[in-house]
Amino acid sequence: MILVTSATGNIGRRLVRELHGAGFAVRATTRNPGGADLPAGVEVVHGDLADPSSLRDAFAGVDGVFLLGSPGDVPGMLHLAAEEGVRRVVLVSSLLAETHPDSFIGSGALAGEKAVRDSGLAWTVLRPWEFTSNALWWAPSIREHGSVYSHEVPEGSQVVDPADIAAVAARALTEPGHERRIHPLTGPERLTVARRVAVLSEELARPVEFVELSTEQARQRMLRYMPAGIVEDMLSTEGGDPGLPDTVRRITGRPARTFRQWAREHVEAFR
Ligand SMILES: NC(=O)c1ccc[n+]([C@@H]2O[C@H](COP(=O)([O-])OP(=O)(O)OC[C@H]3O[C@@H](n4cnc5c(N)ncnc54)[C@H](OP(=O)(O)O)[C@@H]3O)[C@@H](O)[C@H]2O)c1
Repeated sequence: MILVTSATGNIGRRLVRELHGAGFAVRATTRNPGGADLPAGVEVVHGDLADPSSLRDAFAGVDGVFLLGSPGDVPGMLHLAAEEGVRRVVLVSSLLAETHPDSFIGSGALAGEKAVRDSGLAWTVLRPWEFTSNALWWAPSIREHGSVYSHEVPEGSQVVDPADIAAVAARALTEPGHERRIHPLTGPERLTVARRVAVLSEELARPVEFVELSTEQARQRMLRYMPAGIVEDMLSTEGGDPGLPDTVRRITGRPARTFRQWAREHVEAFR
């Protein structure tokens, strides 16, 4: 049995589908089992990352567990998992742990990784760069005004599709050779915000305007809906260059998915 926590999230939903489709027994946690809408045959149970004790029953009889590094109490969850006989864990950390270890997200990610290494379980750490799915933050503004207000990332960002993170997680949970490994994950290309907006516009077949904000304007906007530490990371760490590691192809045998592939699959969210 494999336990996928945060099963309704950007990575979790794809991972559940992938494991279930490949014939593995899957248990999935969410804070709202009634609204989870996961495939028939997947066991869906309640679980809250902020409350490790809510996961105790979910760990029973589980071989491998998929965990997000945040939100949540990673040491607490791992302690319970070990007590319940879980053998391996795959943790989603962040590439900021490598490129900006002192940042808010980077230092939190490193703390989660330390907890995993200290857990006594067989561990694999996934370190993704920025997700393609963060573009969903622009969906209300695109739907309502046909525009995106954002600061620019002149050097571009190698955004990674959560579907690729899920594909690598599925291998790490079910195949040998991933124990004590850290897998850096990026998309296949560097894209500015303007380019990502242009791709969305092309997929929607209607104009979408990109309105570039100054750093201060972007800060004030983001502070309305994000914690200050994350806002500062988003405004200051994008210049860090994690390169273009070939991890997705090396582990799954197929190239990393492009932003356009992600946009095409999610275009309805922007209409
Ligand atoms: N977004 C990025 O660019 C990025 C980059 C690198 C690393 N990461 C890491 O990737 C992970 C996933 O990020 P994401 O933005 O894509 O998130 P997400 O998967 O959309 O959301 C997290 C999921 O966690 C579940 N959850 C369980 N307990 C929760 C709680 N107490 N509070 C909030 N959610 C809870 C939620 O499912 P239910 O509502 O069904 O319970 C939700 O679906 C995070 O650990 C993040 O640090 C993100």
